[in-house]
This record gives sequence, C-alpha cells and structure tokens, in this order.
Amino acid sequence: MSEGLVTASYIGAIVLFILTLGGLSHQESARKGNLYGIIGMALAILATVFGPEVFNNIHIIIATMLIGGTIGIILAKRVAMTQMPELVAILHSFVGLAAVLVGYVNFMGGSSLIGVEKTIHEVEIYVGILIGAITFSGSVIAFGKLSGKIGGNPLMLPARHWLNLGLLIASIYFCYDFVHQGHLDGGNAMMPLMIMTAIALIFGIHMVLAIGGADMPVVVSMLNSYSGWAASATGFMLGNDLLIVVGALVGSSGAILSYIMCRAMNRNFFSVIAGGFGTTSGAVPSGSSEEQGEVISIETHEVAELLLDAKEVMIIPGYGMAVAQAQHTVHEITQTLRDKKINVRFGIHPVAGRMPGHMNVLLAEARVPYDIVYEMDEINDDFPDIDVSVIIGANDIVNPSAQEDPNSPIAGMPVMECWKGKTTVVLKRGMATGYAGVQNPLFFKENTRMYFGDAKQSLDSVLKEIL
Ligand code: TAP
Repeated sequence: MSEGLVTASYIGAIVLFILTLGGLSHQESARKGNLYGIIGMALAILATVFGPEVFNNIHIIIATMLIGGTIGIILAKRVAMTQMPELVAILHSFVGLAAVLVGYVNFMGGSSLIGVEKTIHEVEIYVGILIGAITFSGSVIAFGKLSGKIGGNPLMLPARHWLNLGLLIASIYFCYDFVHQGHLDGGNAMMPLMIMTAIALIFGIHMVLAIGGADMPVVVSMLNSYSGWAASATGFMLGNDLLIVVGALVGSSGAILSYIMCRAMNRNFFSVIAGGFGTTSGAVPSGSSEEQGEVISIETHEVAELLLDAKEVMIIPGYGMAVAQAQHTVHEITQTLRDKKINVRFGIHPVAGRMPGHMNVLLAEARVPYDIVYEMDEINDDFPDIDVSVIIGANDIVNPSAQEDPNSPIAGMPVMECWKGKTTVVLKRGMATGYAGVQNPLFFKENTRMYFGDAKQSLDSVLKEIL
C-alpha cells in the first residue's frame, strides 16, 4: 500500500471515529456509532499493517494479532456484563503498558535527530512513558478495586498532597536530567528515565488508592482519558498521525466524561483526583441498621396489587438488576402494566451500576422503549406524583443520607428522591450496603416496603401475578 493510500485511509478512519463518538452520545444512534467504530478500526489496522513501514515484518504482526485477537475474543465472550468495568480498567492498563514499552524501545533504538528536534523527541518519549506508567499502575489498582480484590476505602496518607507534589516536582527534574544526559557524550539518560518510570508507577498507585468507592466512576473515565493521552504521546514518538488524533479523541472525550461524572455526583474534579472523597472511615455513616429501626417487608401478591392499583409507576434500576439479569422480566412487567393503561417510566441515575450508561445498555438489550427511559434530572421533580417507585437492586443512588447527612461519604451526591412518592418498593436480597458501603435510611422509611430476594426471581413471581 502506498504512502498516499495509507494517509487517505487514516483520514477516513479519523472521520469514522468522530462519527462514532457522535453516534455513541445517543441511545438511538449508539449501534450505528459502534458500527462506524468497527469499520474505522478495521480500516486503520489494514492501512497500518499493509502500509510501507510495517509490510516487511507482516508475518510477525499477523502472528501477534492472531494471538492477541484470540485472547481478546475469549475474554470478551467470557466476561459477564457486571465485570465490564474491570475489563475496561485492565484494557486501559494495556494501553498504558504499550506506551511505556514503545517509549523504551524508541529510546533504546537511538535517533539521528540533533539539536532542538532531538530535545523535542526526547520530551515526547519522556512524557509518553510518564503518562503510560501512571495509566498502567492506576488502571491495575482500579481493576483491583472494581473487582473487589482491593478494598474500596480510600488510602489517606497523612501528607498525601505533599507526596503528590513531591512526585510531580521530581518528575519535572528528571525530565530535565534525561534531556541533559542525552546531549552529553557518554551521558546516562537511561537512569533518569527509569527513576521517573518508578515515580510514575507509584503516583498512579497512590492516586487511585486515595479515591473512595463512591467516586470510582470518575476514576474509570479519568483513566480512559489518560489511556487516550498515552496513545497520543505514543503517536508523537512514532510520528503516526492517526495515533495522535485517535489518542486525542479518546483523551478529550474521556476528560469530558470525567467532568460530566463529577457534575452528576456534585464533586469537584480536582478534589476527586487529589483523593479522600468517598471515605467510609471517620464519622459513622448514617447509623447501623439497628439504630434505624425496623424495615417493613412485603410479599409478592402485595407488590402485584400495589402495581395494579397504581396510575404512575417509576422503575429505578441499579447494579443489582445487572447482577440478577432481570432486565427482560422488567420489560415484560412494563409491557403488561402499560397494556393496562398504567404509566410506567424509568429513572436512570448517571452512576447507576458500575459503568457509564450501564442501565441504558441493559434496558436497550431488553428492548425497553427509549422514550420511557429518563435521566435523573428529567424526572426527579416528578416523584410526588408517583404512586409506586420500584427500586431494582439499587442502593447508593436512592440514599437520602446524601442530602440529609453531611458526614456521609456520599454527601452532596444527587440521588433519586423516590421517598417523596406514595410508596417505594425496594427489591434486594438482604440488608447489604451498596458500593459506597453506607447504610440506607430509605429502607426504614414508613412508605418503603422491602421485597427481599433475587431481583430476577422476585420479578418473575410478580409478573405471574399481574398477567
Ligand atoms: P449499589 O449501591 O452498588 O447497590 C446495589 C444493590 O443491589 C446492593 O445493595 C445489593 O443488595 C443489590 N443486589 C445485588 N445483587 C442483587 C440481586 N441479584 N438481586 C437483587 N438485588 C441485588 O448500586 P447502585 O445503586 O446502582 O449505585 C451504583 C454505585 O456504584 C454508586 O456508589 C456508584 O458511585 C458506584 N460506581 C458506579 C460506577 C458507574 S460509572 N456507574 C462505576 C464504579 C462504581 P443485596 O446484596 O442486599 O441484594
């Protein structure tokens, strides 16, 4: 493939990636967006593999692609929907690791550049490895936290802000030293590069360890952004325009998503990064269940009666719906109630589940019509008119202590105000806390009924009663 054709293919791929991002911003166009992404990526890979730079080593590339592709397919097929955030986190770590490895190979391969161009190239290598190492270690810790292998409580080192500042200043100094050594005859530029890599790895670990459970959504999107910048830096190192642009697209869209997440959770972006939010240490969060009194449980036929007597029903799904895989039954119940002229709507909290858009994906899979699925901001004022709110495996996103208890780890996070409705039915298996690890006063309110059991089994029973 000629150089010109490769460039044309790259431009085509870039346009497709931009269309992908546009498509992914709405549920209706998300499938089309995904398709653009697949075509764009196929085009980019083909143009790179058959381009003049790689073609001579094509057998190595094809062999590694086959190995990597096979592992990818097996992993993607095996992974449960509830494990997607962990998978995304570990994939981000691969991007970071790739940036580090490419940086080192690039450095060890030497360069014929001189003067300012050499300095610029060295800074590219340094920055690429720096961002890559932070992304790598941060993503590995995020993987550990999301999969429950590492506890959700934030690590609150006494002088953590000073530690971060110290690491930042050291990184800048070693950048200077790296460039300086590179220009000296017999200089040892490898040493500052390796010290910086160690610093960046520690920084990534510390940054994510310092973030509390409830703020993990911001971390996931932030690491997504970092992985984009790491790819972009790799593009600069390799002089690959496509990688630069695609990395920048991922980096900037991830940064925008982080900002949206922070706004949705009423958090200051920089405070989340600096760590300490979402702590469950310190003040006792919202009391233990004994202190809060008794819960009122409810049986299947009572739930069915409540639903059939209602005019307005609001369904609020959470992580438990994903665990139970209850979305299809939810859809059937919705259909049945709508056929009986009961107005059923869905309220989606921005951080419900374990990844952005988690609930929307599940509801779309079950073919719930998009026009009855509302964002939290669109429906939160409607609860006083709701007869029955059905909370399916959600906890933190319907926790009133976010508004009522300034000491709560989730204080200030906007929540779905379902308790303002006539009756709230909560489906969960027991009295376990949610991701943030805090007890929920909603369960003890007078107008709340607890319907215990696996959400799928419970809803299957309700469906039988209302048919
Ligand atoms: P959670 O607060 O995690 O609550 C889920 C509830 O579902 C649990 O209390 C659990 O109680 C119940 N549950 C689990 N399996 C169930 C099953 N099979 N049947 C019925 N219930 C089941 O979920 P949420 O309300 O969706 O809030 C999301 C939380 O995750 C927030 O704290 C958010 O910050 C965090 N987070 C979100 C993201 C993104 S981007 N969305 C990423 C990382 C973290 P039982 O065990 O008693 O059944």
